[in-house]
Amino acid sequence: MKKMILVTGGTGYIGSHTSVELINEGFEVLIADNLSNSDISVLDGIEKITGTRPLFEKTDLSDAIQTQKLFEKYPGISAIIHFAAYKAVGESVSIPLKYYYNNLNSLMLLLKNMEEKGIQNLVFSSSCTVYGEPDTLPVTESSAIKPASSPYGNTKQVCEEILRDTSAANDNLKIISLRYFNPIGAHPSALIGELPLGIPNNLVPFITQTAIGLREELKVFGVDYNTPDGSAIRDYINVVDLSKAHVTAIKRLLENKNRKKLETFNLGTGNGFSVLEVIKAFEKASGEKLKYKIVGRREGDVEKVYADTQLANTELGWKAGTGLEETLLSAWKWEKQLRKNKNQAK
Ligand code: UFG
Repeated sequence: MKKMILVTGGTGYIGSHTSVELINEGFEVLIADNLSNSDISVLDGIEKITGTRPLFEKTDLSDAIQTQKLFEKYPGISAIIHFAAYKAVGESVSIPLKYYYNNLNSLMLLLKNMEEKGIQNLVFSSSCTVYGEPDTLPVTESSAIKPASSPYGNTKQVCEEILRDTSAANDNLKIISLRYFNPIGAHPSALIGELPLGIPNNLVPFITQTAIGLREELKVFGVDYNTPDGSAIRDYINVVDLSKAHVTAIKRLLENKNRKKLETFNLGTGNGFSVLEVIKAFEKASGEKLKYKIVGRREGDVEKVYADTQLANTELGWKAGTGLEETLLSAWKWEKQLRKNKNQAK
């Protein structure tokens, strides 16, 4: 019998790509999502790619009754991947309570229901934001956790603390926390990808929307950093590669191969690219000339951060394989497909 994996936030960006990889690996996927930042049509994309439509429940996981009902309805859940969370850094500064309420309550309610139902396995969506501006590079999993620069970042830190304490108090729980660097790109089929609401905050969707003519020009936030070309450096990780790490983590838990009750892994490529390098790579991959201008730094941005991936490579047995240009091309293909669909719908 197929093992059922509950994927919270499964119609979202990383959740949808992970649902595809889970189905491809023979798991039954149950998606719970409140659709606050995603669209139900994502299920069609997942079905077209895999030939299987995942189970779906519209659930607000920060609501105790709705969450309990979900667990009552599906007694056969073997493991959970918890993606559902708000993630807009800027919005979290203006509406912090929205972020604390949703991101913390949903995790606590999941853990409570897991305890009650005897579900033992959890993979948690964390972020490299917990490292802040690191003292040394690349960052390892034992690098210092720095004070968060936004309420969003703080929710990830507090969630990790909740996991630490809950795991210490419960011998039956097995948890893997995955700290993502900068996920970008889309499924190579261009049937699923990132769907930013309104004006994108993140670099790659802003690039593709500019190239397609939706935005006038990209603003490069600062070229006065202490980096070779002056622009900020990040570790951009292909979303399909990233999704595969979740399947690896789920299998590790289900097969009891974890070494500790709570394990943490960095998910990145180990390579840092500057904003200007990403622009050049996009132009090369797409053949499009990108209109951009250099402006001042964005508040809260760190200068450079990239992952030490040794633990993920050797212990988890996962490695990112897709190059930057190929990943940017997948994002570009997705953007073009998205606009085609939107124009057809008009
Ligand atoms: N950038 C631009 N112009 C833009 C958008 C971004 O120059 O229009 C730059 C940023 O200044 C930064 C880089 O591109 O140097 C990447 O920015 P993103 O917004 O794509 O990603 P961040 O590194 O800021 O954010 C990511 C995740 C967050 C997480 C954070 C932790 O999206 O969820 O990493 O560092 F909190």
